[in-house]
Amino acid sequence: MAEYKLSVTTGGMRHAGTLDNIFIILFGTEGQSERTRLDNSGIDFKSGTTRTYSLKCSFSLGKLLLLKVEKDSFLHLLDDRWYCCKVEVMTPEGEEIAFPCFRWISSGEEVELRGGKDGQLVIKSCPATFTSQIYRSSQLRCSSLSSDQMKYIIQKEKCEEFTRDLLRLLGVVCFVSIMFIFRNTELMFKGLAGSCKEWKSIEDLEKAFKSRKTSMSEYVSKHWKEDDFFGYQFLNGTNPNAIKRCSKLPPNFPVTEEMVKPCLPNGFTLKEEMEKGNIFLCDQRIMEGIPTRVKDGNPLHMTAGLCLFYMNPEGKLRPLAIQLNQKASAENPIFLPTDPEKDWLLAKLFFKSADLLECEVVHHLLITHFLSEVFAVATLRCFPTIHPLHKLLIPHFRFTLHINVMGREALLGPDGALCASSFGLEGLMELMGRGLSETTYSALCLPENITARGLDSIPNFYYRDDALKLWDVIESFVRSVVKNHYPSDNDVFKDTELQEWIDEIFTQGFLENKQSGVPASFHTVEEVVKFVTMVIFTVSVQHAAVNNGQFDFHSWTPNGSLQLQKPPPTSKGQSRMNTFLQALPNVGDSVKFVPLGAFPEERFSEPHLKQMIKEFQAELSYISEEISLRNSKLQVPYAYLNPKQIENSVAV
Ligand SMILES: *[C@@H]1O[C@H](CO)[C@@H](O)[C@H](O)[C@H]1NC(C)=O
Ligand SMILES: *[C@@H]1O[C@H](CO)[C@@H](O)[C@H](O)[C@H]1NC(C)=O
Ligand SMILES: *[C@@H]1O[C@H](CO)[C@@H](O)[C@H](O)[C@H]1NC(C)=O
Ligand SMILES: [Fe+2]
Repeated sequence: MAEYKLSVTTGGMRHAGTLDNIFIILFGTEGQSERTRLDNSGIDFKSGTTRTYSLKCSFSLGKLLLLKVEKDSFLHLLDDRWYCCKVEVMTPEGEEIAFPCFRWISSGEEVELRGGKDGQLVIKSCPATFTSQIYRSSQLRCSSLSSDQMKYIIQKEKCEEFTRDLLRLLGVVCFVSIMFIFRNTELMFKGLAGSCKEWKSIEDLEKAFKSRKTSMSEYVSKHWKEDDFFGYQFLNGTNPNAIKRCSKLPPNFPVTEEMVKPCLPNGFTLKEEMEKGNIFLCDQRIMEGIPTRVKDGNPLHMTAGLCLFYMNPEGKLRPLAIQLNQKASAENPIFLPTDPEKDWLLAKLFFKSADLLECEVVHHLLITHFLSEVFAVATLRCFPTIHPLHKLLIPHFRFTLHINVMGREALLGPDGALCASSFGLEGLMELMGRGLSETTYSALCLPENITARGLDSIPNFYYRDDALKLWDVIESFVRSVVKNHYPSDNDVFKDTELQEWIDEIFTQGFLENKQSGVPASFHTVEEVVKFVTMVIFTVSVQHAAVNNGQFDFHSWTPNGSLQLQKPPPTSKGQSRMNTFLQALPNVGDSVKFVPLGAFPEERFSEPHLKQMIKEFQAELSYISEEISLRNSKLQVPYAYLNPKQIENSVAV
């Protein structure tokens, strides 16, 4: 007679417990146990408890590989879901094998869990007969994803459908902005909804804006006309992704020395400043030729401009020249700060609107929300719960699928927020497709990205300063965890689940685009470290950078216009404040946080791994203090990348 001692832990959240019957079958190399009901006296599965059970077999099962949990409904009336954290088994041979679960189980559901000793890398070692079961269980896994807070369960069909669509057709499927369901939605819409008159005066705008402000958004409303502040936003605002050093003017942007002379200090020339590395460029080429939407019979407008910036000796970034379309021509003038005020303001407005749309669609939705979803789904499909990379990554996908599904459902329709932009759905899909095909692995790795854009030494670039520090601490944490599990390159090579994971990301997420430089397989430990660092960085830090400032910057409509009603100016001196206001969207149209580094579920039980997590958290809190200290000395603080304000996952 062989006795297996099981300890079964139920989650501590509300409604985690169940009255239903739970059955267990153990599978080992020598055979399987009988289907055994877990039944002690009293309530067996109360939330936040661990209870022990005995499971007897007539022979030893050999090396334990798999544990099957079945849940039978007790009352047959309601689905009394159970959140099972883990089952630990003590074998007759005295070995302790863990079967982490960390998921909700519904009535009638069967869940198969892979087991292993804590701290050991579990290379897939099951006999062939088990692999199909494992595959099935990993398919199922995403169908029952749910959350304790939201009570939102993704239905199996929906899940299948959206993952298929999303993964195969990322960039071609419909998508929407979640921009309008972020935390301040109410604030943003208050008083504006339903109204569709044109703005009469800037004061009108200010009035509507009054009730909804943060100190930063207030600052924005006061300073939005200033050139300094315009430049500032390309470094310290919500889209620090687009600007790069310019060492040679693009041939389609014929800015002359005469044009910029008044804006450079006496005796300075554009050519010399370019050589010194003080000239920067933002090129919206990706927006060129995208069809716009027709509204009430009139086409809306969007431009694909070029803006040249100068980093002046006081460390301020100033716009020098703006051209609103790609092809240089007489109808496409180069606007200058020395032009009549309204002309220059209008040029900045159009440029900024295109920047905002690009940022929301490409940098926010595509690169953080949707890539995050690709990483999440691949992780759920390819790694069993016991895999160290599953334990490491899963907290970084909390609510990501939920927010994306919700966003798609709520905002995709004809009234969807981004669909109401100048581009409409069709244009957005085109932009997204272009964005995806231009996204490279190197662009996603921050240190390489900064260097490639020539921004290593530009002063007062807080996004870079903060994000690089965070990249480094994430990388060293990831390195310690990954090396702990893969001592050598050979271990990486042998881990078929890891190879499937990266292959799935390459094929389904990047559509096998070799030019993207995204790996299709891993050969070395360092390759794994880098990729996993990029994943965590993208879903936490990068998302915070593009997400957290949305309300600050864009609740002030002139800076947040996604829908431009008037064509861009084709000549100078014609614009009045009136034209400016008419170009804005109509009145009606405009209108428990988990921080980076938290591991609330204690999936890692090994003491040295817990220690690594502690060190990571200590590093983050050190960076947080540094940033707070710096910000306390700044007139306009840059707080989006303070680790305390960075969410662990894309959840908003
Ligand atoms: C970035 O923000 C800081 C703080 O407000 C400011 O001092 C700095 O000049 C800004 N950088 C640019 C280029 O505007
Ligand atoms: C807002 O838009 C105006 C007009 O283009 C621009 O001058 C200003 O710098 C922008 N400010 C912000 C905060 O976006
Ligand atoms: C830098 O990152 C942004 C955002 O991910 C991306 O759009 C851009 O193309 C990257 N640039 C380079 C040069 O890698
Ligand atoms: Fe977001």
